[in-house]
Amino acid sequence: MDMFLKDKVVIVTGAGSGIGAATAKTFAEEGAKVVVADYVEESAQSVAAEIGSNARPFTVDVRKAADARAMAEFTVTTFGGIDVLVNNAGRGMFGTVENAEEDDWNDIVAVSLNGTYLCSKFAIPEMRKRGGGAIVNTASNIAMAMAIKDRAAYVAAKGAVSALTRSMALDFAADNIRVNSVAPGVIWSNYFDKMLSEVDDPEAFKEGLRARAPTHRWGTPQEIANAIVWLASERASYATGSMMTVDGGSSVW
Ligand SMILES: NC(=O)c1ccc[n+]([C@@H]2O[C@H](COP(=O)([O-])OP(=O)(O)OC[C@H]3O[C@@H](n4cnc5c(N)ncnc54)[C@H](O)[C@@H]3O)[C@@H](O)[C@H]2O)c1
Repeated sequence: MDMFLKDKVVIVTGAGSGIGAATAKTFAEEGAKVVVADYVEESAQSVAAEIGSNARPFTVDVRKAADARAMAEFTVTTFGGIDVLVNNAGRGMFGTVENAEEDDWNDIVAVSLNGTYLCSKFAIPEMRKRGGGAIVNTASNIAMAMAIKDRAAYVAAKGAVSALTRSMALDFAADNIRVNSVAPGVIWSNYFDKMLSEVDDPEAFKEGLRARAPTHRWGTPQEIANAIVWLASERASYATGSMMTVDGGSSVW
């Protein structure tokens, strides 16, 4: 560990579980101060407690502008500014355009796409005050020239997150704010635990997920956290507008 991110101030949304929790912990191991943000209060508190004095929990619903603004203000008050934002909060949903309920559809878009917009909106002015910063958005490998059946809202929202990443990279390059996304493949987390409860044959579902990658396994939250932390660090100083795929090769076969 070379403490490459020492004393950088980082916000991670959806940090109460899975990829976000691993990301928050990895930033802290690299010397950063971390706001562990999630809309499940207890999860944010328990991850922050695990990290220790360099972390603070914050309860946020990324779908709400007032919450996103309050999160930026809390971070500045607590740690003095904002250097890095990881827009990671998200959730999955089964459904095609024919059978998805409109409320569910809107919610998937609100968390992934609107949440990325709102949290960035209030963090960017604070990054500019510090002479720059980095934003990493959690997209998905299905945001590339791919799709998965029966997940229309999710595929559409993640595709939009990837497009928004490119747009933000252009808009804020002159402010020295880099904006990239990470595109995970199948990563075992609560996200899939929840889906397992909705399928008829959980073992077949799990095997189907494994079989998506030539490496024939799903990834771990830590394997995505490593990519996010790299993209946010100065080691990735020439990377902006990019999408880093970390999917065990699923998207190339
Ligand atoms: N697990 C995968 O295979 C996979 C693959 C590609 C992309 N992703 C994306 O990675 C991100 C993290 O997913 P994960 O697998 O760690 O899932 P997870 O369910 O373990 O974690 C998601 C976290 O987001 C939080 N969250 C949900 N809605 C929120 C809201 N409105 N405001 C604030 N927090 C909210 C949840 O409480 C949870 O702690 C998501 O954006 C997901 O779409 C996951």
